[in-house]
Amino acid sequence: MIPLGLPGPRGGTIPLGRTLIGLALVAVTSAACRQDMHDQPKMKPLRGSGFFADRRSARPLVPGTVARGTLREDNAYYTGRAGNEFLASVPLPLDGALLARGREQFEVFCSPCHGRTGRGDGMVVQRGFKKPPSYHIERLRQAPVGYFYDVMTNGFGAMSDYAGQIPVKERWAIAAYVRALQLSQYAPVTDVPAERRADLDRSLAAPPPEGSHR
Ligand code: HEC
Repeated sequence: MIPLGLPGPRGGTIPLGRTLIGLALVAVTSAACRQDMHDQPKMKPLRGSGFFADRRSARPLVPGTVARGTLREDNAYYTGRAGNEFLASVPLPLDGALLARGREQFEVFCSPCHGRTGRGDGMVVQRGFKKPPSYHIERLRQAPVGYFYDVMTNGFGAMSDYAGQIPVKERWAIAAYVRALQLSQYAPVTDVPAERRADLDRSLAAPPPEGSHR
């Protein structure tokens, strides 16, 4: 009879039965140690868990958690208020670029209702939406610029807020432009430097130049 088995040490053979048992043992023990990344202990989104009292594997955020890059330390800039008072000036360098951007955004987001001059006669209003007050009424002329930022941020009466559509900086740009619009419709002559007032009289007397919208 030819003995079945593997060649053993010293020229003998290891019987097949014992070989198989040995191999099976190696297979079983090494499988237990093997854990690849595709098979790691993890919780899938919304999977239940017996570990926590609320039986949810996803843990709620610790109160006060702030996502990286979204710490809004400058409260006045983000709310338009210092304490309970609305800011009286735009908390950004006020220059031509900011006003130009404000105008562009105003014409996109606000003019459909408020009209391009802020008189509350935009197309949406002409088609039946509630007519907003003109920006040129005394109450809104006196309102601090932070108030306009606040109306955009939180909405006002029938007007919904624009916080989701218009980023903070652009809201300030619009608020600055609304202020400029107000000045354009109501600037006392004393705002004009004395030495330029004569120019004003001359331009009022002259016919408007070709293509002007006066
Ligand atoms: C869909 C139309 C609509 C759009 C767009 C709109 N508004 Fe208004 N807004 C209104 C209406 C209507 C009111 C009056 C709400 C009321 O009295 O219930 C109003 C009121 C206001 C007021 C006056 C609040 C007061 O004290 O009387 C301000 C300021 C204002 N809007 C600013 C803006 C600015 C800035 C934008 C653009 C970012 C804008 N609105 C876009 C409809 C609109």
